[in-house]
Amino acid sequence: MQSVFQGKSFLAEKDFTKDELLYFIDFAAHLKALKQKGIAHQYLKGKNIALLFEKTSTRTRAAFTVAANDLGAHPEFLGANDIQLGTKESTIDTAKVLGSMFDGIEFRGFAQETVETLAQYAGVPVWNGLTDLWHPTQMIADFLTIKEHFGKIAGLNLAYCGDGRNNMANSLLVTGAILGLNVRIVSPKALFPNPEIIALAKSFAKTSGSELVITDDIDQGVLKANIIYTDVWVSMGEESQFAERIELLKPYQVNQAMLEKTQNLDQFIFLHCLPAFHDTQTTYGQKIAELYGLTEMEVTDEVFQGKYAKQFQQAENRMHAIKAIMAATLGNLFIPKV
Ligand code: CP
Ligand code: NVA
Repeated sequence: MQSVFQGKSFLAEKDFTKDELLYFIDFAAHLKALKQKGIAHQYLKGKNIALLFEKTSTRTRAAFTVAANDLGAHPEFLGANDIQLGTKESTIDTAKVLGSMFDGIEFRGFAQETVETLAQYAGVPVWNGLTDLWHPTQMIADFLTIKEHFGKIAGLNLAYCGDGRNNMANSLLVTGAILGLNVRIVSPKALFPNPEIIALAKSFAKTSGSELVITDDIDQGVLKANIIYTDVWVSMGEESQFAERIELLKPYQVNQAMLEKTQNLDQFIFLHCLPAFHDTQTTYGQKIAELYGLTEMEVTDEVFQGKYAKQFQQAENRMHAIKAIMAATLGNLFIPKV
């Protein structure tokens, strides 16, 4: 029996049911165990994978590369400045060409429309490595991390504190709603999620029983949270907006005082998709310190280095998650029928 995902693309969480998302999470856990035991799992032997990056990346690029190698496939990195896409060649033409040579395509970039068009015309599975709208491979890793810690997903409370209208907030809201996790988006009103995203999440929550709260009230938002999640205040492509974002988001910084407000620290973890501004050891960090006098942004170094912080486990899980997504959609898996 073939995987039900065979030939499918992975473009947005909303395209999958709760059981399907749980399948990817559990399959990722299985592949993680195989890797730890040194058991080969070359489900993509002989395949060629294109890795398209309009935006920069450490985790996603590394995860796709290592996952492809572990699966026996050959990954090829095609950066924004390396290929004709966007400048001399349309997305449709690029999709047709790459689809005729590669067996699967990863895309990271700005418009969700680009990854959708690639999937429509490539004729091979396309995987969304982040757009302005969604970050779906990140969700499989994040919910794997949550399941590893709590042994469950449904019924837990996740408070996302920060920019409520970026790709991470969108993905957490919708994925949590599908999986039955209670999601609070805690952000200033000016950065509340797009009403269409809220409506979509609410439609899933009706079935899953997930409770969704959008609030600018930190005390209410983080009370009894099992997970506080944050992301950069300024996403890739929005770098001109540092001043206004700092002004809006300073009160939403994840610090020890915010953690105490959960009143739930015996059942609690901190997550961050990374990269994070928690010190001044980057050029951006130094520039922000010079310009705005801020040495930490969305999370303090104390929390980032503290005992609740699981962001590096989460980062490793990106690889296992991406491997599961590629293997399930492109691999020849043997799935016995019972
Ligand atoms: N979390 C994440 O997507 O990291 P990169 O931008 O480094 O890929
Ligand atoms: N919201 C961030 C996520 C990075 C993984 C960005 O888009 O830059």
